[in-house]
Parts: sequence; structure tokens; C-alpha cells
Amino acid sequence: MNKESQRLHDSSRLHDAVDFLSLKTIERPVTAIVLGSGLGDFANQIADPIVIDSHAVPSYPTSSVQGHDGKLVFGRLRDQNRESLPLLVFKGRVHYYESGDLQTPIFPIEVAKALGVKNLLVTNAAGGINRSFASGDLMLITDFINLAFLNPHRPSEEDRVTPFHAKNKRYLDEHLSGLILSAAERLQLPLQRGTYCWLKGPSYETKAEIEMLHRLGADAVGMSTVPEMIAAVELGMRTAGISLISNLAAGFSAEPLSHNEVSETASRVKQTFIGLLSETILSIKN
Ligand code: HPA
Repeated sequence: MNKESQRLHDSSRLHDAVDFLSLKTIERPVTAIVLGSGLGDFANQIADPIVIDSHAVPSYPTSSVQGHDGKLVFGRLRDQNRESLPLLVFKGRVHYYESGDLQTPIFPIEVAKALGVKNLLVTNAAGGINRSFASGDLMLITDFINLAFLNPHRPSEEDRVTPFHAKNKRYLDEHLSGLILSAAERLQLPLQRGTYCWLKGPSYETKAEIEMLHRLGADAVGMSTVPEMIAAVELGMRTAGISLISNLAAGFSAEPLSHNEVSETASRVKQTFIGLLSETILSIKN
């Protein structure tokens, strides 16, 4: 394990998981994909998949949330004459709110890094705050607001004098984000762009909180993604993300928000989402 990986996690748990997974795969994954609420069906696109139940992986955190399957899938995408680089798909994620421990959501990212992953695509279902968004829209994450005020960055020994450098980092990778935009263009898919705001959850927001987030400049709100992206960048990976706007944020619609609404929208839009993600992944060359 390299020095960067040690920086974020106590390494024995990580070693156990990585040793176990290394024995299951011959090909080292180059790109990892985290699939958000209700978006797990993308994993069915993988050709000749090696599917591993997360319960079987030593030390691996498991999710209790409906719509988060807890599978790791290794393989590639194939489409007529195109083939992707080797992939590691996280079908279902574990959220910070499930344990109250930031190590939980970033564990898979550290596993990915230790297995050799260079690119991390993060997806989620999110509430739409931007008033021009509709339920079912897809949004490229162009920036984020960390309103959970939690950060997985651990300064290394050399950093201790100036542990603040991470705050100056550009988190979202321009090249990977550009591949998402070009994929949407080739497919002639409308793609929103916007700032994703991370709140700890697990309760949905109040109308007043959404009004506050709107004034702060957030376009979408959710309970994930940001710790994974920060960890990825700290570990030297490129990252980019797509939100599925699964609902209008609390207070914008007459009905109270429910997880069912999130799942129903994901299921309605999932073919479009799968198309965009596949086209993006097929265009990643390194
Ligand atoms: N708020 C927070 N998280 C979410 C939402 C929301 O409206 N929709 C999906 N995840």
C-alpha cells in the first residue's frame, strides 16, 4: 500500500479488504464508479462481471438503505466495437449517516485506490434546488458545498506545519467532467450543470433550509458524494460526478418528500442515466 493510502485510513482493515479483493480479480481496475440511490442497475451492463457481495469482503461497511445493494462488480463495458478500461463498480454506497463515522463512506474509495484506480465517477440522487430543474433531470456536478463541515483529509507528517493545502485544491477534474459533457452531446441528452451541496442527513430538509441553500448558491442537495470526492482527490485520483435530480427539494412540491419518490424517479430515468454513464466510461482512455 502506498503512502497516500495510509494517510486516510488505519491500514490493517484496508489491507484485509484489499488482499481479499486482489485475489478475486486478474485485471486491475482503472476507473471506479459509485452508483447512487436507485441507480444500481448500471452494474448489469458489465460484460463478464465478477460480482462480490460486500458482506463477504473483510472489514467492508455494508449499507442498510433500500436501493443500495452492497455489491462490488469488476469487469468492462463492451459496446459493438468499443471496450472500456477495466472497471470497479460499487453497486450501492454506505452513507455517513449510517454510522456517524466518516471512515465508512470513504472506505470503498481507499479500497479503489489501493487496487490501482485512477478515475472515480460518483453518482447520486439529489433534490433539485435550482428552480429551472425538473425531477428526472441529470446534472453534471461542477462544484460542491460541504455543509456537513466534515473532511476526511488527514495531514501527513510532512503536512503538519501547513495542513491547509487541501482547501486550495481543485476537486473536480476538468478532463473527466469534459468527457461527461461530450458524452451528453453525442447522445443529444440535455444535461444540467450545478453545485451539489452535502448535508449529513438522514432527514430531508425543511422549506427554510432549502431557501437558505438556494441563497448560498446550491443547485442540488444530497447526503453523499462530497466525502468520496474529497478522499479521491486526497489520494491522487481524478473525480467527477453526476446527480440525478430525483425530486424537487422539500417545500417546492405540495407532497411531502419520500424515499419512494426518489426511487421512482431513478427507475423512470435509469435508461438515460445508464446511457450517459456508459458513453462516458467508454470514452475514458487512461
Ligand atoms: N434532499 C437530500 N437528499 C436527497 C434528496 C433531497 O431532496 N433527494 C435525494 N436525496
